[in-house]
Amino acid sequence: MFSNPVSDRASTVADNARYIWHPMTAPAATRTTPPTIIAQGDGVLVRDIEGKTYLDCTAGLWCVNVGHNRPEIKRAIVEQLDQIAYYGTFSNLSNPPSIALSARLIKMLAPEKMARVMYGSGGSDANETAFKLARQYWKLSGKPEKTKIFSLKHGYHGLHFGGMSASGNVMWRRAYEPLVPGFFQVEAPYLYRNRWTDDPDKLAAICADLLEQEILYQGADTIAAFVAEPVQGAGGLIVPPATYWPRVREICDRHGILLIADEVVTGFGRTGHMFGVRAWGVAPDIMNFAKGINSAYVPLGATVVNERVAQAWESDHPLAAIMHGYTYSGHPLACAAALANLDIVEGEDLPGNAGRQGDYFLERLQELLQYKQVGDVRGKGLMLGIELVLDKATRAPLPPTHPASRKLYETICAHGLLVRIAGNKIILSPPLIFDKAHVDQSMDGLHAGLAAIAAD
Ligand SMILES: Cc1ncc(COP(=O)(O)O)c(C=O)c1O
Repeated sequence: MFSNPVSDRASTVADNARYIWHPMTAPAATRTTPPTIIAQGDGVLVRDIEGKTYLDCTAGLWCVNVGHNRPEIKRAIVEQLDQIAYYGTFSNLSNPPSIALSARLIKMLAPEKMARVMYGSGGSDANETAFKLARQYWKLSGKPEKTKIFSLKHGYHGLHFGGMSASGNVMWRRAYEPLVPGFFQVEAPYLYRNRWTDDPDKLAAICADLLEQEILYQGADTIAAFVAEPVQGAGGLIVPPATYWPRVREICDRHGILLIADEVVTGFGRTGHMFGVRAWGVAPDIMNFAKGINSAYVPLGATVVNERVAQAWESDHPLAAIMHGYTYSGHPLACAAALANLDIVEGEDLPGNAGRQGDYFLERLQELLQYKQVGDVRGKGLMLGIELVLDKATRAPLPPTHPASRKLYETICAHGLLVRIAGNKIILSPPLIFDKAHVDQSMDGLHAGLAAIAAD
């Protein structure tokens, strides 16, 4: 399946430490603990430059949903290359794959009454577009004071200035402050860590009330939109209670605030539903996509707005032009890859598989509660998390710098499993083609890692 791709491994490792700055990592750490350098992939497997093969329980960064090395997507990219590699969508130009993909997305999103698509190169771009369009929408609607963006603590909306200002973890912003003015975070419905209750419905009501109180305090006439992930991902894999999103939709409607769903991770099947908001029975006004839209074969992000929002641009208002976009908005290769990717997602019912395998994975994760460092396990579909603690009784988090964290990661890797450890959480986000045997194999690696640190 794999041939040997890297002839000089030592110099590749040295050049990595010498030349690359890695996101979310101190450069010094790259030298002391060099990254695993992945060179090849096939299906659910990846291989590093040392020749070691891993079961990919991360799908890259929860993005390679259809698995690695899919011939259908490679073929679509090459066929498009044979036509033209690049032409953009600025002003009076367009290209066939971006048009075909837009029509397909709007058809898929008919239940949410979505109407228009605007592209970028990833999730941060998609969020930036959503925030700018939300502000423009209210200017076009005669309410220019509605500019603030509300979001959730623990939320992650990318690392551009807008997304960073909306994201709810100070770690991601301290080095880059000041933030964009007008961004505010309210409490997330985090069942394992909150000061009120263990009852999901009560927590949903409390957090929704807190959102509404903040809206009333600041004034709905100053707020453009509320943005949230259907399941919070990078901030700690937080699954909201089922009653939370419907309450949020109702509050946004009552106060005239746009609801933005950041579906960058949840879109296209990961939660067991084609779109994350469908798990909660809610239709937002704006949706942000990336990752699963084309399984990351070529960078692509998309922001989609519903009919009501799109209507605001059908006017002769002096600000009705969209003065926003990117060179790579609607990149033909990325859109061609997306069309082939969606054929696979729909043809193989990957949302259905994610739901089934996710239920099984979550059931098996309960076994891990036997280890003293495992405080909680949770998830939805193939978006799962294990929360690590120093002490189960106090729920004190295991510090990311604790030696157990490194040992855990190394032991899991040694068992041929790739997972992501973010803060005190192990994040599991495999390709949506995972089957029961892959889940069982992942459990073996997790047991091995947790048993190794429990013994210390
Ligand atoms: C929910 C969410 N929004 C936005 C982003 C940012 O996407 P990107 O890294 O492609 O800019 C991410 C990335 O993980 C994400 O999880």
